[in-house]
Amino acid sequence: MNILHVCANPKPVEQSVSKQLAARFFGKLMELNPDVELNNIDLYQDKPPYYSNDLYRRMWNPVFDPAYEPTKAEEAAMNYAQKQIDELKKADVLVLTMPMWNFTVPGVMKAWMDQVLAPGFIFELTEAGPKPLHNITTLVLLVASGGIYKENDARDALTRQVNAAFGFIGISDIRIAWADGQNPLFFSDSAVRREMAFEAAEELAEELAEEAAEG
Ligand SMILES: Cc1cc2nc3c(=O)[nH]c(=O)nc-3n(C[C@H](O)[C@H](O)[C@H](O)COP(=O)(O)O)c2cc1C
Repeated sequence: MNILHVCANPKPVEQSVSKQLAARFFGKLMELNPDVELNNIDLYQDKPPYYSNDLYRRMWNPVFDPAYEPTKAEEAAMNYAQKQIDELKKADVLVLTMPMWNFTVPGVMKAWMDQVLAPGFIFELTEAGPKPLHNITTLVLLVASGGIYKENDARDALTRQVNAAFGFIGISDIRIAWADGQNPLFFSDSAVRREMAFEAAEELAEELAEEAAEG
């Protein structure tokens, strides 16, 4: 199993519930399946640039114009994306760790998605729709939030965003461990909820290890 773990949280692990979820998930997975190849990307160590017009031209012009040749600046604008795309292409499992911020993914995660979900690299646009150019079969989402959101809650733009963006490139197997209700001022059971989410993360790891063992 080749896992790419992308984490969008500036806090140290002792202060971050989502990073603790990731620690429990990977702790259990490593215990069960020593064959895991794990590649960690911390988006606060390796920050994605915002999407630029040079990058837009380098990524999208070839889709519409086969004769397009990038300028030096357009080629250079692709550097971060290319590096991250190379890592994404090696993975068969993608793990995303993050808090909910303003009801969706942190800006740094959205910027990373804009860089890597690239036509001609990670998916191909065909008349029949987008065709995957990657090997990822499963996405694991490890999230913490202050509030509690029921399934399909209209306020939850985070799981919608992840489902829609990664569903578009052909990843429909999305599994979630979510530590919700982490604001102790509003939810007196926040510690219990956190522990339940840690257990859910370990169960996700067990599922993945079992599936890998079955081949
Ligand atoms: C900038 C910011 C925005 C936030 N927005 C939300 C929100 O929209 N909904 C929510 O439930 N919690 C929100 N929170 C609370 C965090 O999701 C919560 O504290 C969570 O436990 C953070 O995860 P972490 O401990 O891994 O950093 C926000 C926190 C910050 C700092």
